[in-house]
Amino acid sequence: MTVADVQGIGPSGLGGGATVAVDHPAVVEPRLATPRRYLMCPPEHFTVSYAINPWMNPEVAVDTAEAIRQWDALRRTYERLGHTVEVIDAEPGLPDMVFAANSGTVVDGRVLGARFRAPERAAEAEHYRRWFVRNGFRDVVMPSCTNEAEGDFTWTGSLLLAGTGFRTDPGAHSEAQETLGVPVVSLRLIDPRYYHLDVALFVLSEGSATVAPLVAYYPEAFSPGSLRVLRRLFPDAVIATEHDAACLGLNAVSDGRNVVLPIEAVGLAEQVAQRGFEPHFVDIGELRKSGGGPKCCTMELRG
Ligand code: ARG
Repeated sequence: MTVADVQGIGPSGLGGGATVAVDHPAVVEPRLATPRRYLMCPPEHFTVSYAINPWMNPEVAVDTAEAIRQWDALRRTYERLGHTVEVIDAEPGLPDMVFAANSGTVVDGRVLGARFRAPERAAEAEHYRRWFVRNGFRDVVMPSCTNEAEGDFTWTGSLLLAGTGFRTDPGAHSEAQETLGVPVVSLRLIDPRYYHLDVALFVLSEGSATVAPLVAYYPEAFSPGSLRVLRRLFPDAVIATEHDAACLGLNAVSDGRNVVLPIEAVGLAEQVAQRGFEPHFVDIGELRKSGGGPKCCTMELRG
């Protein structure tokens, strides 16, 4: 597809008649949404009863009913945007099972399952594996190295960016490359608040053979070498502020045009709007008590 093919769909989120050139000197691309298929798990048993990241404090009360309302609003947002949402049943005793992104990496219909670092989450992987098998995924491989799936693996359309440092083992990166047959680029995370790649970086628009992907990230979450890799791969990236990273604003979900992100991430919303994307805010206040946001609740089923 060429730019001319999508010319009819102009940039949005800029307000009527905004002169793009003033806000952002680069040419703003027309943004094209593509329909997605997501897997989500309702937070019926969500709570914070253990602490495996700095966001979690079992002393702080969690309102499960409110978490369910927030999750429902997220799901309805995807459906309103034209996406398909599949739902896996929540299991009692697995309060973090709502974070579907951690249980599988699916590219071209191939599934690489999960192997959690924390024993408290270990059993989630098998529930998701069974869901894949029951739902017609034929190529399901379970990893032998610690692998927290889309928590640490981000597909750009041409590369699989792979985080390590807190959860996913670097050995899982080569396992992902072999299993999924995609080139993997390892990135080292260094700030415990950003313990997964998906709280430090997200893909705004996927790349192809002819178009470079566009990503947003928080530089301070990465080691110096990994930051140089990011600058080399994505010279045009949206650079998030500390404020927008610290509300888990980078735990966002984009369909190539619509960007679903936490309500507090106002600066990031403005930045993506200037690049021609349309921000959609969701309240994830309860889920954030566990260190999760919109993306953590959303596994993408690709192909
Ligand atoms: N409490 C969960 C954990 O620490 C949160 C996981 C969030 N998921 C994500 N994809 N970042 O494992």
